[in-house]
Amino acid sequence: MSRNLRGLSARKGLTESLFKEITKAGSYPGADKDLLLSALSEKYLIGKSSVLSASSFYDFLNCDHLGKKVLLCNGTACLTSGKHDKLEKALAVKFGKNKTGTVSCLGNCHSGDSFLIDNTTCSFADIDLPEEIVRHDFKSKEMFTVGTNVPKPVFISEISDLTSYYGILNDYTADVSLALKEIELSSLRGRGGAGFPLHIKLRTSATTVSDKKYVICNADEGDPGAFSDKWLLEKRPHSILFGMFITGLIIGADTGIFYIRGEYPEAVRSVNTAIEEFKKQKLILSIKSGRDLNFTFQVFEGAGAYICGEETSLINSIEGLRPEVRSRPPFPATYGLFGKPTILCNVETFSNLRYILSEGGQEYSSLGTEKSKGTKLVSLDSSFINPGIFEVNMGTPLKNVLYGMGGGTKYPVKAFQIGGPLGGIIPVDAVNGLNLDFESFIDAGFLLGHAGVVAIPEEFPVVKFLLHLFEFTSRESCGKCFPCRIGSMRGFELLKNAVENGSKIERTLFDDLLETMKLGSLCALGGGLALPVMNALHYFSSELEEYFQ
Ligand SMILES: Cc1cc2nc3c(=O)[nH]c(=O)nc-3n(C[C@H](O)[C@H](O)[C@H](O)COP(=O)(O)O)c2cc1C
Ligand code: SF4
Repeated sequence: MSRNLRGLSARKGLTESLFKEITKAGSYPGADKDLLLSALSEKYLIGKSSVLSASSFYDFLNCDHLGKKVLLCNGTACLTSGKHDKLEKALAVKFGKNKTGTVSCLGNCHSGDSFLIDNTTCSFADIDLPEEIVRHDFKSKEMFTVGTNVPKPVFISEISDLTSYYGILNDYTADVSLALKEIELSSLRGRGGAGFPLHIKLRTSATTVSDKKYVICNADEGDPGAFSDKWLLEKRPHSILFGMFITGLIIGADTGIFYIRGEYPEAVRSVNTAIEEFKKQKLILSIKSGRDLNFTFQVFEGAGAYICGEETSLINSIEGLRPEVRSRPPFPATYGLFGKPTILCNVETFSNLRYILSEGGQEYSSLGTEKSKGTKLVSLDSSFINPGIFEVNMGTPLKNVLYGMGGGTKYPVKAFQIGGPLGGIIPVDAVNGLNLDFESFIDAGFLLGHAGVVAIPEEFPVVKFLLHLFEFTSRESCGKCFPCRIGSMRGFELLKNAVENGSKIERTLFDDLLETMKLGSLCALGGGLALPVMNALHYFSSELEEYFQ
């Protein structure tokens, strides 16, 4: 069924994108959506129920959301910062309770008190400032620390001259297999969470014969606590464009697509500017190489759905289908957007490629550990004395990052959740034994993920934190498989009843629930929730025992 729908959507391709039409139709408060969606159904020859089921999936397209003037961030870092309730009250007073809604993480975790108003991300301190001033400040000042322990950083160095930045591609345009060789030598692994070697994906797509191929940048950074992709998109967009461009040359794709979450309006603006600047650089390279380097970029803005960060859901979203997760195989490298070979990578993964091609794969692989090469961006939330973005060598002791670069926390904390809502809950006592790399975290029963760090304050109840994780998962579940769709809701209900009504949770039932979600879920949203919950049950058993039989 979905293959048929995909084929119908592919007829109009990206130029008359079904997804863009659906989001446009859904974004007008008060418009007759029924009529608009019927028209789309006729135009694309896709049943109205399919168009409606795609449209109804997204938070930003529902009527409740559209009626709001201001959206309060309810991401984990804002929730644990202790400022959430005060900010909620202040916004309700200023804008009216019925005009104040909520939004999933805005990636302003360094402030811990953010909200979105008229496509501008603000903090508590901005509440009474005129919007133009807030916008201006956002562009001009760095609102948090950007630091590193790496002598020659991969990501955070400024890009001063675009012509020399892109100019190193002259060494590769005649034979792009040289670029692939360097990437293989670097042993770069994807930074979107799973850590899959990039060169294997590239070789697979490059050797798959097809009339059309795509490169997609996964800029849907939905993990509450992570804002490193946001920083790269806003401050170093050319590092991403560079990576996508060379990827396109390697696999034979002529189209690069940014899928940027709608909660990051500043990133959309910055990437669009960079795309305009890229056009001139591409022309210079084409003239120098004597080849028409045919590669164009497109930007797609998400419409509020965490699961669209999962690669197959993201691809379905761009196609205008309901963004449910696809079962794999086939993998996107051979069967991706519109069924064509597609390299889909995380923002940070693409951002590594300029360094690898300028310094060489061997040099890159001398950074980091034996299995986790290179450097990693880490996001520290507002609980730290120096909140911000830090580029560190893979393998750096975690304590050096949290207590050295981050300066420790402003108030006592009992644990850190690292790697987003599906990342482990690390008690402070365990920090000393960990290094910041994939293996160290896995060996200790945690997950590095995208390396966003959210502190759990001493006085913040662990049960409330777990309730938040179950609530998040049940809200964001795509609904395709029942262990996640039903399991996350049952877990939420059990915990809610225990917290609000004093009922005791049967431990065996709860363990069964976690096991079913872990083993039976189709993707890591349902399957990964068990990890932080089991960490909490293990490390905070005395705090949690009163809620269990
Ligand atoms: C629930 C869920 C959410 C995800 N969210 C993101 C995301 O926001 N950004 C991202 O790059 N990868 C995310 N991923 C991982 C992607 O599916 C995919 O593995 C990744 O984008 C591949 O890029 P990489 O090879 O550069 O890591 C998510 C996965 C799951 C299961
Ligand atoms: S685990 Fe959840 S999000 Fe993933 S496919 Fe199943 S229902 Fe969808």
